[in-house]
Amino acid sequence: MPLHRSALVLAVLTLAACARTPSPAVSPARGLAPAPPMGWNSWNRFGCHIDEQLIRETADAMVRSGMRDAGYRYVNIDDCWMAHERDAKGELQADPVRFPHGIAALARYVHARGLKLGIYSSAGTYTCQRYPASLDHEAVDARTFARWGVDYLKYDNCYNEKRPARERYEAMARSLRATGRPIVFSICEWGSNQPWLWAPEVGGNLWRTTGDISDTWQSVMKILDQQAALAPYSRPNAWNDPDMLEVGNGGMSDVEYRAHFSLWALLNAPLIAGNDLRTMADSTRAILENREVIAVDQDWGGSQGTLLRRDGDAEVWEKPLADGSRAVVLLDRGPAPVRIAVAPADLGLPAAPAYRARDLWAHRDATVSDTLAAEVPSHGVAMFIVRPAR
Ligand code: GAL
Repeated sequence: MPLHRSALVLAVLTLAACARTPSPAVSPARGLAPAPPMGWNSWNRFGCHIDEQLIRETADAMVRSGMRDAGYRYVNIDDCWMAHERDAKGELQADPVRFPHGIAALARYVHARGLKLGIYSSAGTYTCQRYPASLDHEAVDARTFARWGVDYLKYDNCYNEKRPARERYEAMARSLRATGRPIVFSICEWGSNQPWLWAPEVGGNLWRTTGDISDTWQSVMKILDQQAALAPYSRPNAWNDPDMLEVGNGGMSDVEYRAHFSLWALLNAPLIAGNDLRTMADSTRAILENREVIAVDQDWGGSQGTLLRRDGDAEVWEKPLADGSRAVVLLDRGPAPVRIAVAPADLGLPAAPAYRARDLWAHRDATVSDTLAAEVPSHGVAMFIVRPAR
């Protein structure tokens, strides 16, 4: 009895402490994607070279590397998982050579590790790599995915017969809901039909805003430039998706990958790693598992960051956080290092004699009075959370 009572007192104290200091990483919103989904997807690194062993090994690596504990949950299979023909019942089936145990077995394997499984199809007659897809097969395919234990569907836009996007995506969203299984719905129509205007209404949890990312600095900057105006459309359960991460795929430097990751977090992007988790370098892991940057992405206020100021190659990006503080990314797009400065007052923070600036990459606090400044490397960022000092 006394043991029970002290346990209860402890629980009440813990609850009280939680109520006073809400964690920025935990969203109070309900729904399938209260914070931007985090996980991994096979496409950026592996393309069509996928099989069930890769997916199992990736799930294991997600646990072993600490990615799961840092918040990554979804193990997503992209294009090329299916056989070229539907089965005799008209259902999609996995490629019998590359996925001999089928998707349901893979889902069980992934679930047993505390992770979730994602899959891919297209709102067209074929996937982009010309496998069978789900246009006019929405109900049967949604039922198949639910029966297999799938938790996330990325739904592409190839071979769409030029039929209106909204109705094609709505048909699948309705069919997913009808299964009764919670399945995150990731709309991938490349931003072609302004999905930010209709995707939340039809039940999309996230929607791609652009064409495909590639593993180059130019691609990351090009996509970034297309995001600033879209900030008002992002909110819990309905996220702009500037495409999956290229961090660790080898085409950029770690400085550039830190910039890519910081900016995606500032944009509330889904953090879907696209590298080989089984063999990633420690420096890649340190980027993907930077919890302070992840917390900015997952901040429960759900406000997307946006461009505050541009001065040649120097940019200041800013995101309001739920507790009133501001996340700031100072970005140098140019070929040489540059000092970038911003006044806390310009970030919309209340006037104060001093501010505390937390450097999210150096993991250090500093006190600033009138100007926050950093020497930023070429193609790099400095990232801070700024708040009035107590
Ligand atoms: C593209 C899509 C990519 C990838 C690819 C697969 O349309 O944007 O992310 O899924 O198809 O074929």
